[in-house]
Amino acid sequence: MSEGGARHQRAAEGSVDPALGRTVVSEARISARVAELGAQITKDYAARAPLLVGVLKGAFVFMADLARAIDLPVEVDFMAVSSYGSATRTSGVVRIVKDLDLDLSDRDVIIVEDIIDSGLTLQYLRRNLNARNPASLEVCALLVREGQQHSELDLRYVGFTIPPDFVVGHGLDVAERYRNLPHVSVYEGEPSSG
Ligand code: IMP
Ligand code: MG
Repeated sequence: MSEGGARHQRAAEGSVDPALGRTVVSEARISARVAELGAQITKDYAARAPLLVGVLKGAFVFMADLARAIDLPVEVDFMAVSSYGSATRTSGVVRIVKDLDLDLSDRDVIIVEDIIDSGLTLQYLRRNLNARNPASLEVCALLVREGQQHSELDLRYVGFTIPPDFVVGHGLDVAERYRNLPHVSVYEGEPSSG
């Protein structure tokens, strides 16, 4: 692990944690990329007021940074979904646990996700939100796992494409832990039972 990685790990978790492996995306790379994504969205949505829809809980850190990197009158809303399946694999059967507060009709909606793995959660969300007649619907994901079929998902904004390892940090958890880690790290601990 790099010096910076070890320092951040201590800052967020109190001491060096043997369950954390190598840093996949450093805090500095995340900030630089979020600034780029914010600038791109500012350009693409000029004179409009996009509505950022964050998918809880994982997207909350990325969403907070992204919203502040967009120089437009953005609005934010959140929804929470739960997918049936094991802790580390989704089944594609998704249930809305918390729905949006705002009406999407004629809004320029950007779904903000932490990570796209199989893409099943996103496929469901896309269909569900499209049925509410937004003016436009795009996706901004901090991470996309490589080696999956994502071409049909039409991901407009992507932070980083990462290798297949299970990762934590910057909003991503294992059994609710590590969401406050400033960087994205490989998780090498025991698989969680959920
Ligand atoms: P998908 O439906 O397979 O694309 O799963 C996406 C969701 O699974 C994400 O929003 C995360 O909540 C969770 N997830 C997938 N991979 C990881 C990971 O490496 N770490 C933490 N959560 C993950
Ligand atoms: Mg999760």
